[in-house]
Amino acid sequence: ETMPLNVTINGVKQSVRIEPRVTLLDLLRERLHLTGTKKGCDHGQCGACTVHVDGQRVNSCLTLALTTEGRQVTTIEGLADGDNLHPMQEAFLEHDGFQCGYCTPGQIMSAVCCIREGHASTPEEVREYMSGNICRCGAYSNIVDAIMDVKQ
Ligand code: FES
Repeated sequence: ETMPLNVTINGVKQSVRIEPRVTLLDLLRERLHLTGTKKGCDHGQCGACTVHVDGQRVNSCLTLALTTEGRQVTTIEGLADGDNLHPMQEAFLEHDGFQCGYCTPGQIMSAVCCIREGHASTPEEVREYMSGNICRCGAYSNIVDAIMDVKQ
């Protein structure tokens, strides 16, 4: 049994029919082919799947797609302004805030909320806010540097 879903993703209205059990992560990746959002653990422990729903960060693997009815979803694909990267994307490049890059979309989506919600007054506060985004390469110090740089 499928249900209708109307949601705006990166500024584009999407109308789809999906099964109620489908997660936002699978809707994005499998159905809409927005594969910038990554699947790491698929149960809320790694942060690779982080996106924004109405400007708040969520783990899209823990979010049922139908709960986004009428809302605005932003993924890593929607962060840049045309050819101009978002300042957080620029900062990650400048500070080498990644090695393999798999966690990077989730890191950047969280990092944008870290600043927006005012949790970037110290490196310690940034580390705490970002603690749900795991990086197996251990790029943490460069990630914190990137976020602190954007904050200024
Ligand atoms: Fe969602 Fe790991 S894939 S938190």
